[in-house]
Amino acid sequence: MNEIKLTPNSKPLSGVIEVPGDKSISHRAVILGSLAKGTTKVTHFLDGEDCMRTVHAFQAMGVSIERSDSTLLIEGRGISGLNEPTVPLYFGNSGTTGRLMLGLLAGLPFFTTVYGDESLSKRPMDRVVDPLRLMGASFDGRGHGSYLPLSIRGENLKGIDYTLPVKSAQVKSAILLAGLVADGETQVTEKTNTRDHTENMLQAFGADIISNENNTTITSKKELSATDVYVPGDISSAAFFLVAAAIVPNSVITLKNVGLNVTRTGIIDVLTEMGASIQVTNQRTLSGELFGDIHVKYSNLHGITIEGEIIPRLIDEIPIIALLATQASGATVIRNAEELRVKETDRIAAVVDVLSTLGASVEATDDGMIIHGKTSLKGGAVSSYNDHRIAMMAAISSLVATEEVILDDKDCISISYPTFFADLHDVMS
Ligand code: S3P
Repeated sequence: MNEIKLTPNSKPLSGVIEVPGDKSISHRAVILGSLAKGTTKVTHFLDGEDCMRTVHAFQAMGVSIERSDSTLLIEGRGISGLNEPTVPLYFGNSGTTGRLMLGLLAGLPFFTTVYGDESLSKRPMDRVVDPLRLMGASFDGRGHGSYLPLSIRGENLKGIDYTLPVKSAQVKSAILLAGLVADGETQVTEKTNTRDHTENMLQAFGADIISNENNTTITSKKELSATDVYVPGDISSAAFFLVAAAIVPNSVITLKNVGLNVTRTGIIDVLTEMGASIQVTNQRTLSGELFGDIHVKYSNLHGITIEGEIIPRLIDEIPIIALLATQASGATVIRNAEELRVKETDRIAAVVDVLSTLGASVEATDDGMIIHGKTSLKGGAVSSYNDHRIAMMAAISSLVATEEVILDDKDCISISYPTFFADLHDVMS
């Protein structure tokens, strides 16, 4: 825990930022690079705490992974080349490491124990454990295997045909990773599309995988081939600066090389619909992922309703969208976002607490919130809830607050954005 006092800012923001690599893609690059045979070079890897948990898990299973700044060199050992770890694997705060590794470990021929920090130990794992058990997996743990710590005895899995009951890319990815080693075909169907980085990367590493509109089929494969991965900037990190520029009068910011995969760009659609001046240029594709530069300027904003299919495309951005809505005229209504209740913290409760402490008019609903704008934010002492995205939202709110914002813990930001304050400083000076 490390408190920070953020003084009010009276100047426009300006400049060019390149945010760190995408968290979801960085995790997947480590997983598939470790499973492939040969050397995988990962460029612009996110060296935040969450992704390093995935790195350490594979190192504990005998994979050589060397990091130099944001480049990783992974000496993949092949799907059958991982060693049984001699120690329990620690996943820290990382839900993505937790869910995806459970999918993989379920079908590897050894025993593993996995655990996480206080927050991860409260997050539901039955959403992956249940379908994996249908494939023949063997788990044990609290609540009949619903929570970490869990022990996993690797089994011979068989393919399933599964329709996701929750809107979760982590669950989809866990089943696809299990499907990589399961006998026969594994098919996953989604009612609402979620991020598809696992599918894209499995394709790039030579897996036998076919994706249609809302379902993906994977057939087991003995080997994956190493391939270099370029990780675009994380749009979920860029979102904090997109919103900062949109709400601080007269600001102009460019974010370079940001991932623009359509399953992740809900924040751009929301900013556009609320009236922000936002433009995307220089679009390119590398490693199966679209990326480009985003330019955003301060504008007058108005409230909107955010619901339905767009929710998984901006689920991690809802805390910062809530702050955006406090600076827009009229009501912003967010619905169908019940998944926020089971993130690093209950993000509906946390957002409502932080923003109301700062003087916003915001109320929680079961599956979202309603924000009435435009309100002038004052200051106050707020909690990060030990959640990186709540902490960054609070830090950005200080840019439009009239008094000091005191945040109880800035350290948790390094989970996903270790250079956040350096980038913030750059656009403020
Ligand atoms: C992620 C999926 C999302 C997201 C998380 C990262 C991923 O979680 O909130 O930050 O990398 O697959 P869910 O799958 O639980 O929605």
